[in-house]
Amino acid sequence: MITVRAPATSANLGSGFDVFGVALGRPADVVQVEKAEETSIEVTGVGSRFIPEDPEGNTVGAVAKALDAPAHIKIDKGVRPASGLGSSAASAAGAALALNELYDRGHSRSELVPIAAEGEELVSGEAHEDNVAPALLGGFTVAAGDVGVTAVDARIPLVVCLPESVVSTRDARDVIPDRATLDELVGTVGKAATLAVGMCRDDPDLVGRGMHDDVVSPARAELIDGYDEVRDAALDAGATGVTVSGAGPGVIAACYPGRRRAIASAMVEAFDDRGVECRAYQTAVGPGATVHSPDSE
Ligand code: HSE
Repeated sequence: MITVRAPATSANLGSGFDVFGVALGRPADVVQVEKAEETSIEVTGVGSRFIPEDPEGNTVGAVAKALDAPAHIKIDKGVRPASGLGSSAASAAGAALALNELYDRGHSRSELVPIAAEGEELVSGEAHEDNVAPALLGGFTVAAGDVGVTAVDARIPLVVCLPESVVSTRDARDVIPDRATLDELVGTVGKAATLAVGMCRDDPDLVGRGMHDDVVSPARAELIDGYDEVRDAALDAGATGVTVSGAGPGVIAACYPGRRRAIASAMVEAFDDRGVECRAYQTAVGPGATVHSPDSE
């Protein structure tokens, strides 16, 4: 039996739509796999009642099929589905790493990224890699299609605030405008580059300044009750940048060390003032999925 802890992730970071992602120190899913004749799936934990256990309809079922690795797969969800924290990606990445180990398939973590992304396709209709890449590789990742995936270690402090509402990735993709102007394109490239340099330098100011875009995030913010107030509260409390986490409704803020508690309280209070219940995670860019085989316990 192999057990893997697979972290939540935050994709896009504003300017890096469908490209940027970070692994979060917390929360995480725990995936346990055991060889079997046929794949079966058992899901417990946060929001598990919304997750199909039929392997044909579950992200990890798609991963087991792609790796030709039938198993009994137990998923203990720490990452709530439809939260903007890469819930399906955490399970898919965890299962890919665990099954690769269980069946000695010998794939590198980078090779597992497109395999885990097949599970993502089942959820959103597209096999984007911006959540599974950080879940497997850790740190800040750039999933750039033909150019490949690059990962950088970073230690930026973050706060993620998760309202009780649910936004499906499909719905959140439907509201995105079809086109962007040249000015918007140039602005977004500038911010994305600033953010990437900030991650390489562990500079929360540069990261925060680059965590913005004028096309995707404003459209998605409309789906999050209280977004503007929560963003303003986080910035007033010292966040260097705030944006929608993944497809939402999670809201992510970057900051300097020592500011997380104040920012988390400010975000929770702002949601609370709108009558929206929420939970804040004080976290940071963290490592990718970790394997706990019986030998390592
Ligand atoms: N990049 C994707 C999106 C991540 O924002 O739609 C969601 O899983």
